[in-house]
Amino acid sequence: MKISIFGLGYVGAVSLACLSRDGHELIGVDIEAAKLELIRAGKTPVVEEGMVELMAQVAASGRVSVTTDAQQAVLDSEISLVCVGTPSAANGSQDQGAVLRLAVDIGKAIAAKKEPHIVVFRSTLVPGTVEDVLRPIIESHSGKKDGEGFFLCFQPEFLREGSSIRDYDKPPFTIVGANHEHPVQRLQALFGHLPCKFIRTSVRAAEMMKYCCNNFHALKITFANETARLCDALGVDAFEVMDLVCQDTQLNISKAYLKPGFAFGGSCLPKDLRATSYLAKVHDVELPMLGAILESNRRHLDVALDKLLALGKRRIAFVGLSFKTGTDDLRESPLVTLAEQLVGKGMELSIYDPEVNLARLLGANKSFIERHLPHLGRMLHASLEEALAEAEVVVVGLNGAEIATRLAQLVRADQEVLDLVRLPADLPLRGRVQGLAW
Ligand SMILES: NC(=O)c1ccc[n+]([C@@H]2O[C@H](COP(=O)([O-])OP(=O)(O)OC[C@H]3O[C@@H](n4cnc5c(N)ncnc54)[C@H](O)[C@@H]3O)[C@@H](O)[C@H]2O)c1
Repeated sequence: MKISIFGLGYVGAVSLACLSRDGHELIGVDIEAAKLELIRAGKTPVVEEGMVELMAQVAASGRVSVTTDAQQAVLDSEISLVCVGTPSAANGSQDQGAVLRLAVDIGKAIAAKKEPHIVVFRSTLVPGTVEDVLRPIIESHSGKKDGEGFFLCFQPEFLREGSSIRDYDKPPFTIVGANHEHPVQRLQALFGHLPCKFIRTSVRAAEMMKYCCNNFHALKITFANETARLCDALGVDAFEVMDLVCQDTQLNISKAYLKPGFAFGGSCLPKDLRATSYLAKVHDVELPMLGAILESNRRHLDVALDKLLALGKRRIAFVGLSFKTGTDDLRESPLVTLAEQLVGKGMELSIYDPEVNLARLLGANKSFIERHLPHLGRMLHASLEEALAEAEVVVVGLNGAEIATRLAQLVRADQEVLDLVRLPADLPLRGRVQGLAW
């Protein structure tokens, strides 16, 4: 394939070298003449393991050329990979200057091109950039439409500096955000041989997931480092602790706890986080990330409260009250906190939770509810029908196929529904349903 690559930094130079090694014809474009000179001489513009040998090899193959002429590069290729830098601006926003200027050149070149050109953005771009910012620029300068005269895609790059050739050849997956079939097929031809899944998604999801990946990596590193600081103060071996933590592939290194939902609660996580923060304070160790978790969790609960108050209704039914489906444990249940706040604002609550039976509540569970929802007895109903009968709003906090089916039977068209559990998308639920954050 004839490919132009814009931006010959870490991502662009490694892609140029690997794609040309794989037999494709490459045109490298950069605004820095020094980088182009190095590539012309068969040298690498970036310090990366294996790049010295690979650049010498591909330069000798005759399949690599370089230029500063962006428009000519588009005219001479079938597909463009955009790998220009997108650094931070002074205020923390993304500086998109390079990619915006390039979009103008690409648009002008497409205006003069007969065949539909494919433009694949590989630079990290904040969600919405390709469709809302770059597409209008390219459409206006080319006079053509995305999907007809050209095709735009977003394909996040996952290589890590230091091991980028190895990462290029063995990525975690290939993600292509695209609105049309043709560019997906061409990208499959370029990257489909890699030993990983090839996943097509929407352009925005592809843009967003790149941020999620990097944020997750940063979160993991900081988690390990905050753990190390606390361990150090306590005389515990942090490496041993983190190694044990990582050996749990059921709950820790797994998909568990990584699905959006309602705030967490219960008898363990909040109290253990509080104890961790206290321990850190006693030992003069600062753990800002762990210390911020309960506040963030609280903010998530406030979102539910704000949504309910915005509805301006008074009679609210809760389906579920315990801290998670299948238990009667009410301690630190976020649903109890939500109910408490609504009662405080004068709302009338009716509650149904098949696991919660006032007569059976004992010990800490009983005293927690006596402190937070002393009139629970008056609000609690033995059947879902009863709980929903008078309600204007239904808050769904219980998971499961059985309860979903019953809600589909019982919720009326005149009722508002706040979904905290992500009800199945195909559930034929009457009523006006809104998700918590979806
Ligand atoms: N470095 C990484 O490990 C990595 C990994 C994944 C994704 N990314 C993302 O990929 C993008 C590129 O990162 P990088 O580290 O390779 O950047 P870099 O700064 O090393 O290289 C960017 C190159 O783009 C060139 N450039 C700027 N404007 C140009 C224009 N109008 N036309 C042609 N070239 C132009 C610059 O001269 C520079 O050589 C960024 O969005 C980054 O966030 C980087």
